[in-house]
Amino acid sequence: MSPLIEFRDVSKTFTSGSTTVSALDSIDLEIDAGEIFAIIGYSGAGKSTLVRMINALEGVTSGTVTVDGVTITERNEKEIRRIRSRIGMIFQQFNLFRSRTVFGNVAYPLKLAGWSKERQRARVAELLAFVGLTDKAWAYPDQLSGGQKQRVGIARALANNPTILLADESTSALDPETTQDVLRLLKRVNSELGVTVVVVTHEMDVVRSIADRVAVLESGRLIEVGSVFDVFSAPRTDTTRRFVGTVLKNRPGAGDVARLRARHEGSLVSVTIDGDAPIGQVLTDAVRRHDLRFEIVHGGIDALQGRSFGNVTLALSGEPEDIEKAVARLRAVAEVEVLA
Ligand SMILES: Nc1ncnc2c1ncn2[C@@H]1O[C@H](COP(=O)(O)OP(=O)(O)OP(=O)(O)O)[C@@H](O)[C@H]1O
Ligand SMILES: [Mg+2]
Repeated sequence: MSPLIEFRDVSKTFTSGSTTVSALDSIDLEIDAGEIFAIIGYSGAGKSTLVRMINALEGVTSGTVTVDGVTITERNEKEIRRIRSRIGMIFQQFNLFRSRTVFGNVAYPLKLAGWSKERQRARVAELLAFVGLTDKAWAYPDQLSGGQKQRVGIARALANNPTILLADESTSALDPETTQDVLRLLKRVNSELGVTVVVVTHEMDVVRSIADRVAVLESGRLIEVGSVFDVFSAPRTDTTRRFVGTVLKNRPGAGDVARLRARHEGSLVSVTIDGDAPIGQVLTDAVRRHDLRFEIVHGGIDALQGRSFGNVTLALSGEPEDIEKAVARLRAVAEVEVLA
């Protein structure tokens, strides 16, 4: 099956006066139908430029972008408009019309597309029910919370039944709880409506909670792409490691070990868990069989796409030989290092 969105050797330079900025450099990327695909990277990495190429809001300097079998970089304005109508977009600042009601905002693209008043009403009612804002139809954007505004943005983006939804930093202006609400909604857009979702974000929690795959951009280059689990559990570049480090609890650094040493009795053992290792069971077993006590003194385990991943440092107390046996048992299911 060919990918829904395909970048082939795409480069983009911006020139202003005598300075030229390379915003994207030889990007090859494929996004499949039905997935939630995240694009991460530092400010200025080229994320918005990349995502705006999908609906031809940004042109390429060289290379091709193909959406649903149509090479949009070779098409004329009329054909681009047709493809654009199948792509919805939401923004960090919501971009709603302040002078129009919620109903008016959501109906706007339908009006542009020439829908009758009656069909507009039915479709808007359906969309507002989907995003949970039926009771806000006659409110104005200024009367809504940030999360509600973004729901309106999503309803409006879905009005024409798009196959693709682009979300550029769509939760960056929201508090963590509201962010989770919006993410749950985006997840439903994907799973219930079958819409392919491309999210640009610098928030790793967003990637972790909804994305299937993730691409990492750095200075216009694609430095890593893969499933969220693979990229997060085994980042291959320093940049990715820095991003991922903000989510996953890490192994203790040298300073941490000294601090833990001073505070806790027993042997410090670092245990890295990847997948479904029955770590709790192994520990409980070891404690029962040998005369051991353990305490989790650092780190933590996170769920990533339904699998466990993370690192915990344990302080194991007991007879040295019992500790040794417990460590051996742990080694059978996890990556274990005795720190001190
Ligand atoms: N219209 C433009 N004219 C000139 N330079 C631009 C233009 N748009 C983007 N750039 C430059 O291209 C590079 C990539 O910008 P882009 O907006 O894609 O980054 P980004 O990863 O989305 O950053 P942020 O996280 O801050 O939104 C930056 O160096 C930016 O300054
Ligand atoms: Mg941007």
